[in-house]
Amino acid sequence: MNIIIVGNGQVGSALAAALGEHSITHWKNDLDLLTVEELKKVMPDAVINAAGKTDLKWCEENAREAFRSNVEAPVKLYQRILSLGTPIRFLHCSSGCIWDGPYDEHGMPFTPTHPARPAAYYSWTKAACDLLLLNENPSMAAILRPRQVYSASPTPRNTLTKIRTYPKLIQTPNSMSSLDIIIKTIRHCLHSPSDWNGIWNIYDVGVTTPFHIGELLARAGLRSMPQAFTKSELDSFHKPKRVDTVLYDERFERLIKPEPLEEVLVRTIDRYSAALK
Ligand SMILES: NC(=O)c1ccc[n+]([C@@H]2O[C@H](COP(=O)([O-])OP(=O)(O)OC[C@H]3O[C@@H](n4cnc5c(N)ncnc54)[C@H](OP(=O)(O)O)[C@@H]3O)[C@@H](O)[C@H]2O)c1
Repeated sequence: MNIIIVGNGQVGSALAAALGEHSITHWKNDLDLLTVEELKKVMPDAVINAAGKTDLKWCEENAREAFRSNVEAPVKLYQRILSLGTPIRFLHCSSGCIWDGPYDEHGMPFTPTHPARPAAYYSWTKAACDLLLLNENPSMAAILRPRQVYSASPTPRNTLTKIRTYPKLIQTPNSMSSLDIIIKTIRHCLHSPSDWNGIWNIYDVGVTTPFHIGELLARAGLRSMPQAFTKSELDSFHKPKRVDTVLYDERFERLIKPEPLEEVLVRTIDRYSAALK
């Protein structure tokens, strides 16, 4: 397949490296510069959008640019793709953080059909873009919603790297998504003849807490044992507010068959540790 991957951050660069069985054009310029003419040069079978402004504080302080990059530019790109009139799949990286949980008002995890409940401007941009893409044409778009992405690569955006730096950690349940499960879901969305579009919550099965990940990292010698503190203590100084979210998606679990989170975490921390040596 001919695939354009947009975005050169944690997810975009990992996808470009992982999907080597395809002919990949890795688009590292602005989304707006991926014009109809540029699209025609590649005539892709799929475009994966992993570009976006992801720093929550930066998004609050630069709301216009955050809106342009996270909402306006992806929607306009999708419009250009649709205007070509050929069946090009658009896979868009959204986020599980459109729901401020960890659970809904009935104590249940968030499913793809739950209305968004954003707590930060960044989350509003992600939720707005999803709705606008689906409103444009739901049949050629897959909306991918991972949560707290982690991998064996010791890069600054990796959730494992971030958790190594905080001395105190909360004990609130959360979903997490390994890069491996994101890649597995993307492969499905690229190859499935029919059941690929619409919204996908993406996660390794089960819940964990930042505190428990801190413990696992400490046992691997990658940090000191964390101290526990409460979510309200964190909320008293952490602005914008940290979002906690637990995800569920029946279709995702049936078709993608994700592995248990604790097993994937332990295995990934082993590889992360080896990569540091
Ligand atoms: N990492 C996570 O835990 C996580 C969780 C849920 C969802 N996601 C979503 O997954 C996607 C990828 O995340 P990531 O972790 O790879 O983030 P990342 O490491 O911050 O990478 C995003 C990349 O997009 C670029 N970008 C920003 N605006 C752009 C524009 N207008 N045109 C072209 N490129 C632009 C950024 O460049 P600059 O740095 O120069 O702005 C950055 O290189 C994002 O949409 C994010 O919302 C991530």
